[in-house]
Amino acid sequence: MNILILGSGGREHSLAWAVKQNPKCDRLIVAPGNAGIAGVAECAQLDIMDGAAVVEFAAAQSVDFVIIGPEAPLAAGVADALRAAGVLCFGPSAAAAQLEASKAFTKEICDASGAPTAGYARFTNATEARAYVEAQGAPIVIKADGLAAGKGVVVAMTLQEAVAAVDDMLGGAFGEAGAEVVIEEFMDGEEASFFILSDGTNILPIGTAQDHKRAFDGDAGPNTGGMGAYSPAPVMTDGVVQKALDEIVQPTVDEMARRGTPYQGVLYAGFMIKDGQPRLVEYNVRFGDPECQVLMMRLGAQALDLMLACGEARLGEAQVHWADDHALTVVMAADGYPGSYDKGARIGGLDALPEDSMNMVFHAGTAFKDDHVVASGGRVLNVTARGDTLAEARESAYAMVDKIDWPEGFNRTDIGWRALG
Ligand code: AMP
Ligand code: GLY
Repeated sequence: MNILILGSGGREHSLAWAVKQNPKCDRLIVAPGNAGIAGVAECAQLDIMDGAAVVEFAAAQSVDFVIIGPEAPLAAGVADALRAAGVLCFGPSAAAAQLEASKAFTKEICDASGAPTAGYARFTNATEARAYVEAQGAPIVIKADGLAAGKGVVVAMTLQEAVAAVDDMLGGAFGEAGAEVVIEEFMDGEEASFFILSDGTNILPIGTAQDHKRAFDGDAGPNTGGMGAYSPAPVMTDGVVQKALDEIVQPTVDEMARRGTPYQGVLYAGFMIKDGQPRLVEYNVRFGDPECQVLMMRLGAQALDLMLACGEARLGEAQVHWADDHALTVVMAADGYPGSYDKGARIGGLDALPEDSMNMVFHAGTAFKDDHVVASGGRVLNVTARGDTLAEARESAYAMVDKIDWPEGFNRTDIGWRALG
């Protein structure tokens, strides 16, 4: 079959890498792709936010299946446009993508389904929001309702920070996305991510992971999109997984179906876990980046079969074939990220690195310039390895990092610390 993947990051490189290994894949196109993706797929220019343009492209290229990587086209209704045109696709409708696009919506779903999450209140009025914050006290969490490129959450440790965040968000710092704020109880515990496929009715868990949000070693420095990840997450024990499925994920999927907006695609659930009890922090309606890279490393070619079963509403008969393995990815980012950074520096040493089922350098932000791979984004490479143990996966990943010649980049040296000590 002919497959189109939408997106251009390390997540999409890992999806393309896994899909390409499956014999069902005849032709693979990624739009817009990047320099690494060009090694496993055809890259095409296409406005991936424009549903009509994606439908037209899919028809012109005889595409049989579309996998939508990022949240923005999902929230913009690209999956709806494809389904309306009869094109098989992986990813939720705009209505179901509200689980990521609106924090207030997710809270309503938790209320309706009884899923454990932080207590909260919603405000559009700054005076009322401030009064609530003062009555609750710190620590407290202030969230812009809408999509704010990962910047719309302030975990305020003091009342002063909390009030400043309220004023900022309701004062228009995030535009429409901050026109409403959700103010949440601060949850203490250990965070982990859980990835579950849903075909609208059936669910199938496909892995757990932990991310490293802060830029520097020891979880210091500013928040980022994620500086490294590993799978599985030890805190997601069988007991926690079962509670998460029974109390949070299945009730959410049931409630979405009951509302007439069934959820089809991957549900990325972020949990806070304390004393064996998971509580929902947030949903995303896509794979995590860089969590996807470690999941794909572990799933390999079967990832396509699973996504197809999801798209065709056949998840009830699908199975994941697990290896008892571990994967870890180290993000290499441009100096200055997540603030401002330079683009265009050459990256050397990539050609000498292994590219196999145990080791892969996924490209997140790269381009070709004069036949050389150059950095073209903030997060640039995801150096990923698999092993029988997490320690082995880490050793292999960092051995590859050491061979990459890119003085203008940096990476954390402690990915996996929580699990490895
Ligand atoms: P979100 O975008 O909702 O995942 O929030 C970003 C990060 O803020 C999460 O990964 C948590 O580390 C933190 N966070 C969000 N909500 C809470 C909460 N209620 N209690 C504690 N930490 C939170
Ligand atoms: N790595 C966090 C995310 O994809 O949202």
